[in-house]
Amino acid sequence: MADATRILQLSPVIPVVTIDDPQHAVPVARALADGGVGIIELTLRTANALTSLKLIASEVPEICVGAGTILTPGQADAAAEAGAAFLVSPGVTPGLLQHMLGLGIPVLPGVATVGEVMMVLEHGLKAMKFFPAGSAGGPDYLAAIGAPVPQVQFCPTGGISLATAPDYLKLPNVACVGGSWLTPRTAVEANDWDRISALAREAAALRS
Ligand code: 3PG
Repeated sequence: MADATRILQLSPVIPVVTIDDPQHAVPVARALADGGVGIIELTLRTANALTSLKLIASEVPEICVGAGTILTPGQADAAAEAGAAFLVSPGVTPGLLQHMLGLGIPVLPGVATVGEVMMVLEHGLKAMKFFPAGSAGGPDYLAAIGAPVPQVQFCPTGGISLATAPDYLKLPNVACVGGSWLTPRTAVEANDWDRISALAREAAALRS
């Protein structure tokens, strides 16, 4: 089933994780899982991202790992091949969406306008990433578009922190939020897995 509604129910926060060195991939995933967060959006923004994705998918079964920053059909294919459990794109085009829907795994397309929401609905999906959430209108914008399209569940991402997440999570059309704050680069590079687990624990408690 291509709709990502069930993926959005796994955690109140989806960590958006960027890993430079694949050696960090498994410990980061384990640290998040230890802190009670069972999902990762791993961005395809680094040279070795697919290697990291493969390692997490094969060695950390307790984490549901998806691929983020999908911009092209080729990246979607490579991510699916590497074991991604779901695919996330920052924005959406009809061509990319159609291609991703053919891969047989859940798809979370990024939208920022009502027209894009309507286009994704036409393709049968009701779960969407709202990106970049903070700059595109924040919680007020999501509350407003909940009136005409109440059937859509969003994962707002971009510019969200532990402090601002509750402003989104209280909305009826927000299933969870996304953010990179759980895996700060400084913590990853210092192998500070305890810090990442602590950040995950705080995030997991947001909707308990
Ligand atoms: C993303 O790709 O979803 C964003 O880069 C995450 O945004 P953030 O760093 O502001 O949390």
